[in-house]
Amino acid sequence: MHDSLYACGKATDKTPEEIIGKDVIAKLIDIGVKSFGNGMEDKEVRDHIIYGNDFVTVAYDENGSPIGFAGLRIDDGSLYLSAAVVDINFQGEGVYKEMTKFRIAVGGLDEGKEVRTRTQNPKVEEGILSALKTFAKDRKITVTRDRINGAYGRCLTGERQKTRDEDLNKIYEQLDVNRGDAFVLHFKLVKR
Ligand SMILES: CC(C)(COP(=O)(O)OP(=O)(O)OC[C@H]1O[C@@H](n2cnc3c(N)ncnc32)[C@H](O)[C@@H]1OP(=O)(O)O)[C@@H](O)C(=O)NCCC(=O)NCCS
Repeated sequence: MHDSLYACGKATDKTPEEIIGKDVIAKLIDIGVKSFGNGMEDKEVRDHIIYGNDFVTVAYDENGSPIGFAGLRIDDGSLYLSAAVVDINFQGEGVYKEMTKFRIAVGGLDEGKEVRTRTQNPKVEEGILSALKTFAKDRKITVTRDRINGAYGRCLTGERQKTRDEDLNKIYEQLDVNRGDAFVLHFKLVKR
């Protein structure tokens, strides 16, 4: 599995199709529709890939087939981790964590800046934490959660997602995901 990176959104006038090809985009859309489930449509996934991102990273399997993507927006030095999806057949193998490490390395995390995302999915929080540990050195990682009621208007996945950490699952169970509630997560690396 390797990551390739291409710029889109503000970073270039080219569309992802022009940069990485129609076939790859079509496959990523298919992965998104299947992995999110819950009525996610082609157009919505395509919009996630294209709009509002400065960069998108694509993960491939060892045969060169795309198995996931994740977006990045750089906002005044802070990193906004936008839409991410991994093929159902490759979930739980650290693909999201690798794409997140890659995004943080590309964006660069300066002192005092934060990593942000919005999610209903505790796996996302755990994956970002895991990725950040590789950059933390002797600093500690702080996480704060701002709850946004109805942010997505619905549950983005077919069913509520859970991790192995029951305490974290309990925090996410506070969200009314069917109404679309989500957390905006803020991660910082701070000196001990
Ligand atoms: C969320 C998603 C992108 C994670 O991708 P992934 O490649 O499976 O994630 P990783 O394997 O890197 O695991 C990330 C964390 O999730 C948790 N996790 C992953 N698979 C899990 C499983 N089967 N059971 C419990 N926890 C699991 C782990 O805590 C892991 O952290 P760790 O590295 O500390 O173990 C993927 O599940 C997905 O595409 N979901 C549907 C779309 C979605 O919800 N996208 C996010 C929108 S904000």
